Amino acid sequence: MTDARITVHKEAGIDRIAPEVHGHFSEHLGRCIYEGIWNSDSADEDGFREDVVSLLDDLELPVLRWPGGCFADDYHWEDGIGPQEERPRRRNLFWAQGPEEVPEESNAFGTDEFLQLCERIGTEPYLAANVGSGDPQEAADWVEYCNYDGDTELADRRRENGHEEPYGVKYWGLGNENWGCGGQMTPEQYAREYRRFATYVGTMDNLMLDHELELIACGFEGHEWNRRFMEEIGGSSWGSDFPLDHLTLHHYYGRTMSVEEADEDKYDRFLADALEMETHIEKIAAAINAVATTRDIGVIIDEWGAWHTEATADNGLEQPGNVLDALSAAAVLDIFNHHSDVVTMTNIAQTVNVLQCLVETDADDAWARPTYHVFDLYAPHKGNEAVQTSVDTPARELDDDRELPFVGASASTTDDETYVTVTNLDCLDDHTVEINLEGTTPDADAIDANLLFADNEPDTAVTADNADEFTAEDLEVSVDNDGTLSVELPPATVAGLSIQ
Ligand code: AHR
Repeated sequence: MTDARITVHKEAGIDRIAPEVHGHFSEHLGRCIYEGIWNSDSADEDGFREDVVSLLDDLELPVLRWPGGCFADDYHWEDGIGPQEERPRRRNLFWAQGPEEVPEESNAFGTDEFLQLCERIGTEPYLAANVGSGDPQEAADWVEYCNYDGDTELADRRRENGHEEPYGVKYWGLGNENWGCGGQMTPEQYAREYRRFATYVGTMDNLMLDHELELIACGFEGHEWNRRFMEEIGGSSWGSDFPLDHLTLHHYYGRTMSVEEADEDKYDRFLADALEMETHIEKIAAAINAVATTRDIGVIIDEWGAWHTEATADNGLEQPGNVLDALSAAAVLDIFNHHSDVVTMTNIAQTVNVLQCLVETDADDAWARPTYHVFDLYAPHKGNEAVQTSVDTPARELDDDRELPFVGASASTTDDETYVTVTNLDCLDDHTVEINLEGTTPDADAIDANLLFADNEPDTAVTADNADEFTAEDLEVSVDNDGTLSVELPPATVAGLSIQ
């Protein structure tokens, strides 16, 4: 019996899905950079782990944020350039409690190593400059070191350090969580700091002939903060060229839940928490639009994902990866598609070994987590036009007055393809889902469909030994005479359908 219906309104376009919505975030924290990406026993002659680089390369990451996180506002970029043996060793203020092997920051992985990684995997870098304990001069100098093509001391240092051409870094964040670890600022204080930093960093834009900079301000999940920040920024005499291109917030969910000990009720609440991403996007967009009436300022979610009680500062924020977390990522990616008119980038936290990482490593191996396969399944959406999608679905009442809708979906189109992703967030039951593409009668031969996690339990932790059990399989799709598609989704699964 059909119990959920999806209608894809193919002619009702929302906006292009920015490929950067599938972005990632890597911080000097635990085993993310050191051991995860750089400098383990299995590193190549340049210091990179080939197994990790190859997994990231296959995924075609559009953008990677670095070096933090809280680390960003305690980081002085000049510590991390030049001959590695001369770089200063520093304490890592916020993440000093990581695994014993990396209690301090060696600065062996710095700007040139990060940008080299981005070049190797074809990803756009997004650098987060230090506002909390740095100054505008330091931030503007970093832009000059990375991007300037003239005859200055900083541009020459980049050349001496092996990169003749400017890197052309486009995305520059000014601070991270400046309401918290980035300086405990009030929104008004941060707005004033932002204006000061943006004056110098933004003016660098005039000197970067080929590289337009996009400046990113830090916002908050508490939306009153965003409103006050925007009002203070808007209260100045800024015009349409004021350097503020995106406002960000972070949304982590599942923080009070042990992923190893959770039961079905907790799964439901966790998934409902993930779905709150939608409200956050709507609220931050409203705070922007109330002030920035004459221009577009994008919404970036530059840290998001599952954060469970297993991830503590003592263990470098490591937690097991499983299907449940991957399901939440699918549901959130659908939400980003629905809001492609405002969401310009997102960065799941964090790429390797930390929180809801996509890649996990030990000394010898690197493997993809279930969330990696979700990103792979959703990849065809990147750059497509998102279209309105309505879903009629059963739901379960939760004991906190919310409900968990079982079936979710999003859809996007190109000239010759419609791509639909569908989640069954019900960890207990199957759902039969009808999909109707308004104005189209698809041919069964022109459908290619894949299903994730049909044979997996939601809570099985992925390890090096079982990692290949989470890959996609073919999904059977039946097509009625009127062109309605029908699929059977087992509990806790995600499907991707390409319809030519
Ligand atoms: O991703 C871990 C931490 O979470 C980041 O350093 C910080 O920005 C956030 O609170």
